[in-house]
Amino acid sequence: MPRITVDGREYEVAEGRTILQALDDLGVLMNGVDVPHYCWHPKLSIDGSCRLCQVEVEGFPKLQIACNTPVKDGMVVHTETERVRKAREGVMELLLVNHPLDCPICDQAGECKLQDYAFEYGVPHARTVEPRRALKKRYELGPTIVLDQERCILCRRCVRFCREVPGTSELAVFARGDYSVIDLFPGIELENDYSMNVADICPVGALTTKDFRFKIRVWFLQDVPGVCTGCANGCNLHAGVANNKVYRYVPRRNDAVNETWMCDEGRLSYKAIGAADRLTDVSIRGADGQLAPATRDQGIAAAAERLGAALEGRGASSIAALASPHATNEDLFVLRRLLRGLGAATAGAAVVEGRSDDLLIKAEKAANAAGARALGFGDAGPVLDAVRAGAVDALIVMGHDVLDPAWLGDEQALASVGSVILLDTHHSPLERVAHVVFPARHAAEKRGTLTNHAGRVQRVQPLVEPAHEAHAEGEILTRIGRALGLAGFEALFDARAVSKEMGQELPAFAGIDADAVGDQGLPLAGTGSGADPRR
Ligand code: SF4
Ligand code: SF4
Ligand code: FES
Repeated sequence: MPRITVDGREYEVAEGRTILQALDDLGVLMNGVDVPHYCWHPKLSIDGSCRLCQVEVEGFPKLQIACNTPVKDGMVVHTETERVRKAREGVMELLLVNHPLDCPICDQAGECKLQDYAFEYGVPHARTVEPRRALKKRYELGPTIVLDQERCILCRRCVRFCREVPGTSELAVFARGDYSVIDLFPGIELENDYSMNVADICPVGALTTKDFRFKIRVWFLQDVPGVCTGCANGCNLHAGVANNKVYRYVPRRNDAVNETWMCDEGRLSYKAIGAADRLTDVSIRGADGQLAPATRDQGIAAAAERLGAALEGRGASSIAALASPHATNEDLFVLRRLLRGLGAATAGAAVVEGRSDDLLIKAEKAANAAGARALGFGDAGPVLDAVRAGAVDALIVMGHDVLDPAWLGDEQALASVGSVILLDTHHSPLERVAHVVFPARHAAEKRGTLTNHAGRVQRVQPLVEPAHEAHAEGEILTRIGRALGLAGFEALFDARAVSKEMGQELPAFAGIDADAVGDQGLPLAGTGSGADPRR
């Protein structure tokens, strides 16, 4: 391993890396060792075009660009000398020659690298008197992205992203020298499954998303780490939160899961949290056949009574459950415990499948399908067969995928079940056949863990509080277990405590509780975890 010295401190680095890559690997880039950069991005090819990352390397007569200079054993690098400072000033002055004075109305203000680096390394005045270039403003590149050509500093990150990540190559630099601009190839739009990532990597306010621009100034947002629940990949994200509302999702780096990207559909999935079709009330079906609002305690009592009646009737074999692959591992662990307490063995999970690709998007459109399998919830088939055969008197349903034509299709079969207890986040057709309905928390409103397609257990925490009555499924099921007088339900639901119990009881989850997984997650222990990398 080569050893290099940067600003008087020695580091051991990997062979074959450039200076910037090595500093990034060490976690010190812009975090102790400041080498400003525009065109370099850890997940894109090296461009070497902006020249901002110049550093002094002993033995080289000229300054070197850190992004494209390979490390060598014994290399001595200086990042804060007078020559380096002058070079940065020169680059910043050049970039600002044509940059519009848009900052007060630019949506990137507050998270703009041009602003930040101008503040740190720029000159305090302009020496030019010539007018700035007038180029296209508010130029729609496609359904998701707007370009302001005047603000572009031609770092070509967006061009390389489209070429190297989705492989769609919609963007290019056209014309030369001072006339160069970013534009679309004729006849096409910027429209791919990952298009909105270009706004994240654009270091200035040239590329912005239609969804987020002008919604809120970014300094009012709090970045809360979370996990996307759009599919089984579980991409890591930062939620921009203010006033108990999520304004956006942006990717959070996790090299084991999503590198620094996320798909557009997942990025926009935050809208489900505050959607108008959220379930907001506990309800119980009355003697008149209608669902009527009830208190949570009335709902718990009604659900317990119905489960107790089924137990006394045809016994535990007449109780079944459909677990939600959207619920957390902790919620599902409580369901598993409840079913065991009742002696019921018929359970499964209905996982909707859809389109996938070779990058991030997974076929399973649920964040915790692998977790459900690891907790013993197999396919929904046996549960649906039992329902169709009239063998189920009480059915607990988490989530509403089951009425999809791919599963049960017609609801007549469910109508024959004496008691349907539904726990869900949003309104669904299943309410038509449900006897007790509980509004559940969205994954963005609760604490716990999710297991992604590759068996990586990742932590979720409340990004916001629900604007209405809603409880984690684990909490509702715990209260039902208490009302039934089952052992193991004495304490109220606490996701952290349940997470630890899960680790003690299930070898696959040993040592992988909500506290231990940290912000980057941990893989399920051992094999036979139920995780299936093909999904
Ligand atoms: S639009 Fe943004 S990302 Fe693309 S070249 Fe210009 S500054 Fe770079
Ligand atoms: S690939 Fe899946 S997990 Fe990742 S952002 Fe898209 S929907 Fe969300
Ligand atoms: S970051 Fe090195 S030249 Fe742009």
